Formats: sequence, C-alpha cells, structure tokens
Amino acid sequence: GITRHYKFDIKMQNVTRLCQTKSIVTVNGQLPGPQITAREGDRLIVKVVNHVQYNMTIHWHGVRQLRSGWADGPAYITQCPIQTGQSYVYNFTITGQRGTLFWHAHISWLRVTVYGPIVILPKRDVPYPFPQPYKEVPIIFGEWWKTDTETLINQAMQTGLAPNTSDAFTINGLPGPLYNCSAKDTLKLKVKPGKTYLLRLINAALNDELFFSIANHHLTVVEADAIYTKPFKTNTVLITPGQTTNVLLKTRHHFPNATFLMAARPYSTGPAAFDNTTTAGILEYHPQSSPNKPNKNNKLPLLTPSLPIFNDTAFAANFSRKVRSLATPKFPANVPQKIDRRFFFTVGLGIMACSQNQTCQGPNNTRVAAAVNNVSFVQPNTALLQAHFFNQNNGVYTTDFPGNPPFTFNYTGNPPTNIMVSSGTKVVVLKFNTSVELILQDTSIIGAESHPLHLHGFNFFTVGQGFGNFDPKKDPAKFNLVDPAERNTVGVPSGGWIAIRFLADNPGVWFMHCHLEIHTSWGLKMAWIVQDGKGRKQKLPPPPSDLPKC
Ligand code: C2O
Repeated sequence: GITRHYKFDIKMQNVTRLCQTKSIVTVNGQLPGPQITAREGDRLIVKVVNHVQYNMTIHWHGVRQLRSGWADGPAYITQCPIQTGQSYVYNFTITGQRGTLFWHAHISWLRVTVYGPIVILPKRDVPYPFPQPYKEVPIIFGEWWKTDTETLINQAMQTGLAPNTSDAFTINGLPGPLYNCSAKDTLKLKVKPGKTYLLRLINAALNDELFFSIANHHLTVVEADAIYTKPFKTNTVLITPGQTTNVLLKTRHHFPNATFLMAARPYSTGPAAFDNTTTAGILEYHPQSSPNKPNKNNKLPLLTPSLPIFNDTAFAANFSRKVRSLATPKFPANVPQKIDRRFFFTVGLGIMACSQNQTCQGPNNTRVAAAVNNVSFVQPNTALLQAHFFNQNNGVYTTDFPGNPPFTFNYTGNPPTNIMVSSGTKVVVLKFNTSVELILQDTSIIGAESHPLHLHGFNFFTVGQGFGNFDPKKDPAKFNLVDPAERNTVGVPSGGWIAIRFLADNPGVWFMHCHLEIHTSWGLKMAWIVQDGKGRKQKLPPPPSDLPKC
C-alpha cells in the first residue's frame, strides 16, 4: 500500500438549510465533510487542526485499527480531546477491509455536522466480486437541527429528558423537496439508462435508524460495513446509525417517462418521540438523446417509493437476517468456532438518581438513563487507553463490569420493581486472542427499542437473533456459524436479542455503545480492554508524541 495524507481543519461555517442560517462546526468548511479515499493496505495520515471553541476528536468508524488504538478517536476512551488551537495526527493502516465506512467527530454531539465518507477500494487490479459499476456515488444520511445541538445535549444531560428531535433528515447534507423551504437543497442523481451504479449508503444520523428506497427500482445489497455480502435484491434498505451498505442500482434500459424520488425515513419502536419526516433526493435519467426527453414545459411526473411503516420490526428482523457474509475461499468468514468466554449483556433504558446539584424532572430527582447490564457508563476525565497502557487505572476505571445482568425478568412480562440503574466506569478485561460470544438482550424496562450496538476495534459475526428472551438451552443450536454477517454495528432487535462472536486479537481499549447518540449520552456504553499478547506483533505500540493531554 501507499501513504495518503489528509488535512482536516476544524472550523465554523455558516450554512443555510430550511431557510435558516446557522454557524456549524465543520471539517474544511464542508457539509458533509471531505471524502477519504484509500485502497486496502494503504496507510492514512490525517492531521486534524482544531480552530473552534469546542474540544474535538475524530473516529474512523469501522476501521479495525489493528494495533493502532491511539488513532481510534473516541474521546476519553482512546485519547484526550484535541483542544482549541491544538492538533493531532491520526496515523493508521487499512487492513483486510474494502468497501464503505465513514469518519465522524466522537465527542459530545458534534458528529451531527462533523462526518464524511471513507471509501476503501480493493487493492490495485483486484476486481469487485460483483459487476464493475459504471459509477460510484456516496449517499450519506444525516440529521439537521434548526437549534444548536450542543445546547440540546446539555439540556438532556441536565434534565434527563429527551432533547428535541431533529427538524430534518438529510442526504449528502441536503434535506430535499419534502420539507418547507428546501426544494433547492435537493440531491439530484443524474443517471444514464442501462448502467449499473454503486451507491455507498452511510447512516451518519444521530438518533434514527432509516429505511431507504428508490421509486420503481430495486437495489442489490453487495457489501455491509466494508465486508462483501451474498448479493440480495430488495426494494428497501434498513440502515442504522453506524452502518454502511453498498447497493447496486441497475438503471432502466430505456429512458423512462418519469423521474424518481429516493427517500429515507425512520424505523423507530422506542417510547420517545422521533423525527417522523422524510428526506428525499431525485433520480433523473439523462440520455444523450431520446425521443422522450422532456422539454421545460413538459415536466415528467415524479414517482414516490413506498417505505415500510415506522415501526415495522418484522421488516427489520428479516432484512437483518438476509445480510450474509460472502464466505468464499477468497473472502472467507472466519467465524470463531470454539468460544473461550461467554457474556450476556442487557441493553436498555432505566432510571437514575440525580446528584444534589442537578434539577432532574423525574420523581424524587431522578432522570432517564441507559445502561449495559444495569451499569450506566460514566465518562472518565482522562483517556482509558492511557490509564491502561501506563498502568494508572487507579481512580480512572474498575474491572468489575458485571459479567451477567444483576436481575432477570421476562421480556414480555412486567418490569422489575426496581428499575434504578447503577453507574460507574467499568470495563471487561480480555486476554489476547480470547474468542468471545456475547448475547445482547433488549430490555423492556421502559419500552422495547432497537439499539444499534457498535463495537470499536473489531468486526463481529452476528451468529443468531430472535425475539423475546434468549434461551441458552435452545437458541445456540440454531446459530449460523457458516456465513453470518460480519459487521461493526448491528441492531439488537426491539424486544429481542442478538448473538455476536469476535476474536479479541487487537490489544487496546475498545468502546462498545449504542450508536443512537442520545443513548450513548445517557450511558448505554462500556469498554473492553484487550491485553497485549506475548509476540512482538501482538502488542500495542507506545502512543505518538503528539497525543493530546487532558
Ligand atoms: Cu461511530 Cu463509537 O462510533
């Protein structure tokens, strides 16, 4: 591979959407931010210079960061933030991945405007395992608030109430024609008839899973989270925050007498209000010459796709099941077959006592919190990775993360009487090369909800899923150990469970959290520490000299 250099200047930029102008945090003044393009095996060197009043970090979402944990980016997990006027160079190599990923700010809610695509091409002269597309187009979904999101999140943390939902979803930064005062801010995808396009779908939205569809066209899924999949056709793609999905779009052979809306709107099952609006772009055919080509006065009709209803959990479960690894000799699925350690984690919301100096809106000064195994994760004041590497974990984190939930309950039954969650900065320590099986069980303590769980530093295999409570006696027999999806983010089914497996072959500290930003803020997160192995190539090297200080 070669080395590619990028420079990210974090700066404010005035941007107008929905007829209102506001100053937002950007990379190089762009929304979405600049695309990073690399080939598998390349080294990326990205210098991030922070010119804004906020602390900043950038995370390369889904990049495995094999022995380069110092470049992973989650604030207070692998690094202290880059402060105003400071810079940090992220230096890492892309190994064993090709497809689409993305980068985003990983501190507070700044990823709302600080995000952009990562396109990883195969090594030179290595073809795709599907027909070579005529053109490749990144389609990145986001969310837009008219108000300042930093204020929103501070309010949510103070009061424990859900912040306002977004005012619009966006495609490549544009809300599209279905919002007031937004028609000119519409993505137009101009296509030729009879060609194959590769759409690189990325969900960078903060709090919403999305359905995406194009009127009168079907899509063929060929890759998810930078891993090739068995191709399958679908009218609608479900994509959670943190997921990426490559689809092939075959255009019609002849110039059609219509243009086509491509639209996205939420999949949501939780108890909270959500932004139930639709973002859209337009697919327009542009032949060189055609008898049907419209003139200005003869506008073509615009066809609209039909998307599943907002709480279509059956669709979500089926879609997630259809995603399978390619699992060929060239692209094997290395599913761990023998398991060293098994874990059972519940994920969901609960209630937390507020401190004396907070004014929380719940009874007896309580607020909504989110937790893994009943522990709401407390962000430390220094980076866990530094504390781990220099053996200074005292007062930073403890290693008593509960290996099992502190109480059990019937998913469909009543919630336990005590729905209070505890809190702490607790981690699980794994020996190098431990093969892990983890069951993630949604709870119904405050309503069932789908949680897009994201693991840093690894891809995992989603070997099983189901509704209701996981049954350790019956369910494992049905696990798919042959060609399960290999991903970095997966939806824990609403009112159900998912089983994942991964090999802890990457020494460092690795964050795992719900990729709905509000749930992360409320504490639905934890960290794994993977110890060094004995071999030279099994150790995390020391940090770079410009690693930011807290
Ligand atoms: Cu895309 Cu921890 O994040």
